[in-house]
Amino acid sequence: MTAILTERLSATLRDVPDFPSPGILFKDITPVLADPALMRDVITAMLAPLRGSGVTHVVGVESRGFLFGVPMALQLDVPFAPARKPGKLPWKTARESYDLEYRSDVLEMHTDAVGAGARVLVVDDVLATGGTAAATCRLIERLGGSVVGVSVLVELGFLHGRAKLPDRAVHAVVTF
Ligand code: PRP
Ligand code: MG
Repeated sequence: MTAILTERLSATLRDVPDFPSPGILFKDITPVLADPALMRDVITAMLAPLRGSGVTHVVGVESRGFLFGVPMALQLDVPFAPARKPGKLPWKTARESYDLEYRSDVLEMHTDAVGAGARVLVVDDVLATGGTAAATCRLIERLGGSVVGVSVLVELGFLHGRAKLPDRAVHAVVTF
C-alpha cells in the first residue's frame, strides 16, 4: 500500500464523535464515496493482495460492504453476492448468528450464492471487533464455499478484530 493513498484516505475519511452512541468515534466513509478518483484507487488497493488467488465470487456485507464489494466484483469480472441482515433476502436462505457487545445479530445469504468450489473474497468497509466478518466466513463455508480472504477499507486495530479471524487472510487499506 502506498503511503500517499494512506494519507489521502486519512485526510478524506471523516471522524464523527459520539456516533451512533456516546464515546464512539465513527469513521464516515461517505467523503470517500464522493471522490471518484480516490474510490478507483481504493478499489484497486483492496484487490491488490488478492491478485492471482483465483477469486470466483465476492460477498459484500450489508450495507456498507456492498459499496465496495460490487465494484470489486466488476473489476474481477466475477459474481457478487450479498450477506444481508435478517428477513431481507427473498429466496431460500441460510443464517449465522454473531455476538456484538450487548446483543447478538444475524446475517443471511441465499443458499445458492456460493456453492462447492467457490473461492470467495469477503468485503466490508470496516473491520472493528471482527464479529461480522467472522460470521460471514462461517456462513460461506456452511454453503460449501471456501474463503480466500477478507478485504476491508478500514481496520480499527485497537478492537483486535483479527483475533476473531485467526486463520484468515485479512487485508486492510488503512489501519487506525
Ligand atoms: C459496521 C461496519 C461493519 C461492521 C464491523 O456495520 O460496516 O460491517 O459494523 O463491526 P464488527 O467488526 O465489530 O463486527 P453496521 O453493522 O454498523 O451496519 P451498516 O454497514 O449497515 O452501517
Ligand atoms: Mg457494515
